[in-house]
Amino acid sequence: MSIRSMFRTTVMQKAIVAVTGLVMVLFLIGHLSGNLLIYGGPAAINSYAAGLRDVAALLWTARIILLLSLFAHVYFTIRLRRLSHQARPIRYHRQQYVASTFASRTMLLTGLLIFSYVAFHLAHFTWGKIHPEYYAATYFLDGRGPVHDVYSMVVRSFQESWISALYILAVTMVMIHLVHATQSALQTLGISNKRYVQPIRKASFVLAIVLWIGYVSIPVACMAHMIEPLS
Ligand code: HEM
Repeated sequence: MSIRSMFRTTVMQKAIVAVTGLVMVLFLIGHLSGNLLIYGGPAAINSYAAGLRDVAALLWTARIILLLSLFAHVYFTIRLRRLSHQARPIRYHRQQYVASTFASRTMLLTGLLIFSYVAFHLAHFTWGKIHPEYYAATYFLDGRGPVHDVYSMVVRSFQESWISALYILAVTMVMIHLVHATQSALQTLGISNKRYVQPIRKASFVLAIVLWIGYVSIPVACMAHMIEPLS
């Protein structure tokens, strides 16, 4: 079988969706660990952000892997969805919701909304297009000099309620998406033994809750003025 025809098989496409999804979950765990440094104060998170810039080759490799994963994940999901619709030319009169959950029915919708959110998020914190004045802040790091003040940029942004509300909504969608993603990955991998399915499902639920609390705590702490910007 040629590589091209291998990529055309649904098993291969589902495997790509599962693996790229897993890459993004690992990113979410790593990203949250970095973001939580905000509770350590400006020096902690700003030196972490500056440190990432120092390992530019590594950072760009991770970014490229993440970007390719995101595009492959979206592309193959849409392809698989189309294939399953083509395989069922006569639509059901009434949608059958018996075996599906709320999360699975909204999978494509949450996926597309998350995609739009990531575009907004990059414009916001990575390119500084939403609030250029917050993005321009600098911080004097001991032993290093002036660096980008990620701390104040994040806190000032999240003290605007519309931005916090948008992030909380987006993070909630990411977690709904993640819980169902684990279920469909189990199906893809053909794992149906209850001994494994139940603990894996529980673990994905616990992971989603922990990530949700971690991510949401940041805008909430900023809105509650538990963390204040420097400038
Ligand atoms: C409270 C929630 C979050 C905060 C405070 C936050 C913070 C940040 C910051 C400050 C950056 C810019 C880093 C820099 O350029 O120095 C960033 C980048 C990024 N964030 Fe988030 N983030 C949050 C949630 C999320 C979520 C839920 C996702 C994914 C769905 C995400 C995906 C990304 C991506 C893909 C980048 C670009 C990474 C890079 O290219 O360096 N973030 N985030």
